[in-house]
Amino acid sequence: MPQVLDPGEARTMDEFIGELRLLKAWAGGPSITEITRRVHQDWRRAGRPRTEWPARSTIGNCFLPGRRRPNPDLLLAVVRALVGGDEATVALWRQALRTVLGQAEAAARVRACDRLPAGPTPLLGRTRAASAAEAALTAAGRPRVVVLEGAAGVGKTSLALHVARRVAARSPAAAPVLFARLRGSAPACPAADPAAVLETFLRLLGVTGDRIPYGVTARATLYRQLLAGTGALVVLDDAADAEQVRPLLPGDPACPALVTSRRQTRALPGAPASPSNPCPPKPRWHFCGGRRAPIPSPRTPPPSGGSPPTWDTSRWP
Ligand SMILES: Nc1ncnc2c1ncn2[C@@H]1O[C@H](COP(=O)(O)OP(=O)(O)OP(=O)(O)O)[C@@H](O)[C@H]1O
Ligand SMILES: [Mg+2]
Repeated sequence: MPQVLDPGEARTMDEFIGELRLLKAWAGGPSITEITRRVHQDWRRAGRPRTEWPARSTIGNCFLPGRRRPNPDLLLAVVRALVGGDEATVALWRQALRTVLGQAEAAARVRACDRLPAGPTPLLGRTRAASAAEAALTAAGRPRVVVLEGAAGVGKTSLALHVARRVAARSPAAAPVLFARLRGSAPACPAADPAAVLETFLRLLGVTGDRIPYGVTARATLYRQLLAGTGALVVLDDAADAEQVRPLLPGDPACPALVTSRRQTRALPGAPASPSNPCPPKPRWHFCGGRRAPIPSPRTPPPSGGSPPTWDTSRWP
């Protein structure tokens, strides 16, 4: 018999389900009815009451991706049915499942609030960058999304908070402010799950738990409905990628959004298909509210001639 698949590579529930589908193929592709029969047989032997036995459709659902709250007991019962009761292999899968569920739980821990956190004051320098970002965020008639990109520690969050405070001061008094740390570059824990961030945002907007829908799409729809026309400011710090950010954008030209990321997030709405300038290899920031331009890092040595770094603000929105 070929060696059973090692599920240890799975890091997300969808990857785990992908491994489970491969395991089913490895086991000769038994039908869902057959797997259900084996699970019932195991549970009868284990003395579990008939009322607990899973329906065929429940077993079938174990192989479907996109599930956020799977029943670990049931998944392991399916594994056991596929590997013929080989407990050493089941133990491997149990360990993998614990890892995946632990990651999911960590990703669901969200740091978000309805105000801007205190930041370094005053911001040193960056006055032209701050003005350009503020202008892009307050310009009328276009999606107002500004992305500050750059290497670790170049000052993205500091600039974002400084600009956000200025934008918030110009916003209508009742306009909500939403801030979240997305942990896109946190070394020890997974990036924040956008569905969990939306849940927190919705609660901050006054939605009670029983009215928060299930799933990222439904939550994003309600979130956008609530923000529409309010002039809300959304600040998303340390984004992992465009996929994480997209559901969290207010999607309303009246609501500015400010994002920071160590990575390039060109797929965001408002960012051009290709940059107007090639990216320099060293730390830089980009504004993606329609056009983008590189900004020299404070660590970039001044150009020859001794003058300080400058950039062409006429390119910016
Ligand atoms: N213009 C500035 N004025 C004053 N302090 C600054 C400025 N830029 C950065 N700093 C300080 O430098 C440190 C790093 O800045 P910051 O956290 O904003 O960087 P970052 O690019 O967001 O880093 P990371 O990629 O790790 O999130 C902070 O202690 C911050 O207070
Ligand atoms: Mg930061």
